[in-house]
Amino acid sequence: MDVLLADRYQTTGLLGVGGTASVYRAVDRNLGRDVAIKIFNPTTADDDNYRRQHTETMLLSTLNHPGLVTLHDAGIHEDDDGRTTGFLVMELVDGEDLRHLLKRGALPAEDVAQLGADLADALAYIHSEGVVHRDVKPANILMFHSRDNETRLYPKLTDFGIARMVEATMATAVGATIGTANYLSPEQAKGDPLDERSDIYSLGLVLLECLTGEKAFPGPVVEAALARLLRNPEVPDSLGPEWSDLLRRMTSRDPSMRPYAHDVALQLRSHADEQAPAVPSGAEPGNANVPVTGRGRDEADAVTGGVFTGNVRIPDPPDRAPRIS
Ligand SMILES: Nc1ncnc2c1ncn2[C@@H]1O[C@H](COP(=O)(O)OP(=O)(O)O)[C@@H](O)[C@H]1O
Ligand SMILES: [Mg+2]
Repeated sequence: MDVLLADRYQTTGLLGVGGTASVYRAVDRNLGRDVAIKIFNPTTADDDNYRRQHTETMLLSTLNHPGLVTLHDAGIHEDDDGRTTGFLVMELVDGEDLRHLLKRGALPAEDVAQLGADLADALAYIHSEGVVHRDVKPANILMFHSRDNETRLYPKLTDFGIARMVEATMATAVGATIGTANYLSPEQAKGDPLDERSDIYSLGLVLLECLTGEKAFPGPVVEAALARLLRNPEVPDSLGPEWSDLLRRMTSRDPSMRPYAHDVALQLRSHADEQAPAVPSGAEPGNANVPVTGRGRDEADAVTGGVFTGNVRIPDPPDRAPRIS
């Protein structure tokens, strides 16, 4: 059912449902653009949900990075029954979330390297701001793409509902009871105090799944949460020494063995460069569609007019200037 919020945001359809909220596509009538609106499930002011909403709003309003969804506005909505719900107005990320993408199987290694580097940059940024996300998982990674012919996907991290400032962070049951336990760090599963290195573990599991197409710790909450305390995730040697070394360090049960987000980003960027397909010899970027024979060029000229300078064809001016009427 579509609603008008704050006399301004008209919802037009459901984008996704998480553990605490539903996210709708909406039109911002004032600015005439599409946005995403996260409407929290109705709640009372003194419970955990309310604190979660407040945390998310306050954190997102202070963070600004291309790898994070941008917060535009926040408000309170009262429904017909007099129940109030909080909502966030966010940048619309008009692609699939990574969970949906992974349903179709593993991703090419060079895409994973790029995706991982972008996410690690976003984590390095929030960690430098003293924030731990605590819920890095495929459903909270949105894939932004601006056009169909985009050459790559840009991930954006969302859902700061259980994020915390580092000093105040205790891994209470809160994190574990929301959605899935598949990506929790061992310290989260145990309820130990945690810091930004917990996010590195979770990102390690996400990247591993992107490469293999399989969850490292599948299954229901308790089983999945316990498994990581007993064993390391299985990192296949077939991924190659660079990937396996990085992923094993990221998913080490000892947080002090895990790399910093910035180092993960640096290493993955060099992976991505190495793994990028080489440009075939003779082909230079930009001239793929230019006819290679002289005849092809002549024909093109004869048919459409215009001249070539280098690889660029400059069309003839129109016979008549277009009329403005
Ligand atoms: N800004 C956005 N643009 C597009 N889709 C979004 C956006 N934010 C969230 N979604 C979709 O809604 C789902 C739930 O949002 P999320 O913030 O994770 O809610 P919850 O806190 O309930 O888990 C996401 O998994 C995603 O599919
Ligand atoms: Mg979520």
